[in-house]
Formats: sequence, C-alpha cells, structure tokens
Amino acid sequence: MNINECFLNLSRSLDFSRQGLMRHHQRTALIAAKIGKAAGLQEEELFELFQAAIIHDIGITSWQEKAGLGTFEIDAPWQHCRRGYELMQRNSSLNHLAGIILSHHDHWSGANPSGLVKHHIPLASRIIHLADRVEILVGRNANVLDQSSIIMEKIQRFRGGLFDPDLITILEEIVKRDSFWFDLISPWEKECLDTIVPLRRIPIETDYLLDIARLFAQVVDAKSSFTYRHSQGVAMIAKYMGGQIGLPEEECALLEIAGLLHDIGKLSVPTELLEKPGKLTVSEYNIMKQHAYYTYWLLKPVTQTFPLAEWAAYHHERPNGRGYPFGKSDEELEPNARIITIADIVVALREERPYRSSLGWDQIAIIMNKLMAVEGLDKEGVSIILDNQRELDQKWSALS
Ligand SMILES: [Fe+2]
Ligand SMILES: [Fe+2]
Ligand SMILES: [Fe+2]
Repeated sequence: MNINECFLNLSRSLDFSRQGLMRHHQRTALIAAKIGKAAGLQEEELFELFQAAIIHDIGITSWQEKAGLGTFEIDAPWQHCRRGYELMQRNSSLNHLAGIILSHHDHWSGANPSGLVKHHIPLASRIIHLADRVEILVGRNANVLDQSSIIMEKIQRFRGGLFDPDLITILEEIVKRDSFWFDLISPWEKECLDTIVPLRRIPIETDYLLDIARLFAQVVDAKSSFTYRHSQGVAMIAKYMGGQIGLPEEECALLEIAGLLHDIGKLSVPTELLEKPGKLTVSEYNIMKQHAYYTYWLLKPVTQTFPLAEWAAYHHERPNGRGYPFGKSDEELEPNARIITIADIVVALREERPYRSSLGWDQIAIIMNKLMAVEGLDKEGVSIILDNQRELDQKWSALS
C-alpha cells in the first residue's frame, strides 16, 4: 500500500463544501511540505507533517463550520481543533498526530487553549497554520501570480503575532519562485506533492488500514445524528456475515474496512438532505445518488491489494441491474459487494430516519424477502441476517 496515495485520496472527502469539491487539504499540505522542506525537516518529520496537513481539519463536522474558517481572521477555530485532536487520540495508528492537529490554529504569541506558545507549539502545527492561512487567501477566480504580493503583505502583517517569524522568512524566500504559486492551481498538484514528500510504501497491514477506515467512518457518521453509527453498524454486520459464510479472518477484516468506508461519499451530500423529514425531490435524490459514485472514486486509488472500491461503492447496485450509480449487472457484482449491500440495507432499516422510526424485525423480514424476490438480493446473505436477529441486536447495541 502506498500510504501517501491512501491519505491523499481519502482526504479529498474532507474537501466537499457548498461550492463543490475544493482542494483545501491538498493545497495546504503542498504549501506545508514546501515550507517544511525549506526549514530543513528530515524525511520522517516531513512525512508526519504531510500526514497531519492532509487531514488537519478532520474535526470539522458541518459545512457551516468549514465556511467560517474560510475567513482569514477567525474568532474561535478551537472547536474543530479539539474534535480533531480527540478523534486522532482515540486512534491507535494515528495518535502521534493528535498534538499537531490540536495546535494547528495556535497563535505564535498566544494565548492558546492548548496552553502552548511560541517554540512550545509543535513545529508541524506552526507550519500547517501558516500554510492553511496562505491557502485560504488564494482566490479561485483571479490569476494566482497577480495575487501573490497581496497575499504575502497580508501574511507579513501577522509576523510574530499569528505566525512564527522564522517561518515567514522561509516562506518569503520560497514564494519568489513563480512555480510556488503555479503549483497551487496546477492539475499536477498531486505530482508536485510526490516530489517533496518521501514516498511510503508498506506491505498492506490490515490493522493500519482498519484504523484509518475507523477515523473516516467517524467523520462520515458524525454528519447526521440519524446515522451516528451507520458505518460502524454496516462494518460490524458485513464482518459478521463474512464469518458466518466461513470466510478467512483476514477477508472478514477487509469486509469490515469496506463497511466502514462505504458511505465516505456522503461527505458530498448537504446535511439538510440527510435529515430531510419528508420525501426527497427528484433533484435532491439526484444529489444523494452521487454519494456512491464519490465513494468509488475516493477509494479506487487507496489500495490495489483488494477491491475495496468495488466492495464498498456498489452498495446501491442491485443484481437485477436497477441499482445506482453504475447500473452493474448480476455477474458484475462479486459476493463481498453483495454482503455490503445487505449489511447496508439492514442497518438502514434498523435505524431511525427523519421520516420514519426504526423498523422491527418482522417488518425487516418482509422487506428483505421482497428485495430478494424483486431485486435479486442474495438468498444466503438474507438468511444469515434473518436467522440471527438476537445476536445482531446484541452486537448492534454494543456499538458506541
Ligand atoms: Fe483548521
Ligand atoms: Fe484548514
Ligand atoms: Fe449509501
């Protein structure tokens, strides 16, 4: 697995907003990596800086909060720093990034809720803070070079206040190259990052990928109170079904990963749609349908070791060919994709929705049997669910 590629692609899910798919995390990571390199960071530190920068705003839960951070001087950015810190701290593979995320808006001169000031603020946090503020100053509609001196003047006004003065000196040096600015709006932004951040390829470690998947699942589930444990639930059921079918433990863990990430594309859907108390209009439903498409493309580059994107993103496909968004046919859907589909349906029926309460097992059985007859849902998979209701309920209530 190429970790850079994995982080880079999953982080795109954090960049959806009312304006569409922005590239805030990638561009911030690119600026941060350039400052870090010029500051003389070693390979290991540079890699850590990249990892933190590419997900620095992971603690944001709403588009409204995200929009607020688009203004240069922000009153209270601490909430998303604290939330991001907590998410990272709970994550055994990524907790070394927690402190960096916590302080990524810390003012150089203080006072900060982290209690840190000046050189006590982690260097990576100071770099991300500066990179982040440069990034939001780059307007999308004007020539980037035309903006450079205005952006730098604004940044320089906060030397020694918001920002570490030494880092500004480094920035002043690197922005003299036109390519610094061209890179920010370049379609080859990813390639630019690859030239700076040391490439990390590791053999696939399932536990590591599981931890990353858990992190993003928490971000997706936090988007609406109706789905606060949806991804977790789908992952749990998919893993359980795999076990019942007799799949090896390793494959069950991969199913769990696919379950955790199956709705990552939902970060492209406005919360109002997820929480609309009535039926969606045709155009609202068209927006909703995009989520499975985005899941596919967010996950496709993450790993080539197993078909993660195909298992995760086909959960609204149906064996009768009437699903979305790819209109896959029976032969094109592999067994593990069908498992995620069934897990998703059961969890959705078991959950409350803004327009209905949670359904009981009798109703679920009627619906599942109907879907089996009409849409071709897998008989074996449906039986596993309907035959193990009590055990599933227990597992369900044990979810946090
Ligand atoms: Fe932030
Ligand atoms: Fe940011
Ligand atoms: Fe979905």
